[in-house]
Amino acid sequence: MNAPSSPRLVEITPDNVLTACEVKVRQDQNRFVAPVERSLAEAYAARESAWPRLIMDGDEAVGFVMANFAPHESEPDFRCGIWRLNIAEGRQGRGYGGFAVRAVCEEARRRGNDRVTVMWVPGEEGPEDFYLALGFRPTGRVLGGEKVGELLLG
Ligand SMILES: CC(C)(COP(=O)(O)OP(=O)(O)OC[C@H]1O[C@@H](n2cnc3c(N)ncnc32)[C@H](O)[C@@H]1OP(=O)(O)O)[C@@H](O)C(=O)NCCC(=O)NCCS
Repeated sequence: MNAPSSPRLVEITPDNVLTACEVKVRQDQNRFVAPVERSLAEAYAARESAWPRLIMDGDEAVGFVMANFAPHESEPDFRCGIWRLNIAEGRQGRGYGGFAVRAVCEEARRRGNDRVTVMWVPGEEGPEDFYLALGFRPTGRVLGGEKVGELLLG
């Protein structure tokens, strides 16, 4: 795997929102993640808890990640989690996804959380092994057909 040079997360602003919408996964991966424009619509509707960020490497938008921080949510699996993660076609396998997950974990810790969840669609070519490689463990719960994984922050 090539190490990414210097990726960083940046807030979505009027200047970069259309660039964010240009971030597309491979067409066959659309069943695993919603398009960025849909995530941003949901972020607008859930602006108290949604935490959407563009993943930049230099001047290039290489991906999009959205976390959800909702400490008062009644369902524990929805209190602190990775909601969406899209690494652009042609930019996958270079460490950007791992970087984004670690950055969300850092933000989660900063907010006082000790656990991060993620839900993934099971299936060949899906992100399950990616999350397992990063230390997530399946909780055994399935919500809306998606497996719920968790990572305990040390
Ligand atoms: C899944 C996804 C986010 C991974 O991002 P990425 O930038 O390609 O992954 P990274 O390069 O950071 O890989 C991190 C680690 O996971 C491993 N990995 C990545 N994708 C993998 C896969 N499909 N199967 C097994 N391992 C995988 C890598 O080998 C790497 O391990 P290493 O650090 O030991 O080398 C990206 O492929 C993607 O956007 N997929 C389509 C949308 C999607 O499924 N999103 C998740 C929605 S929940």
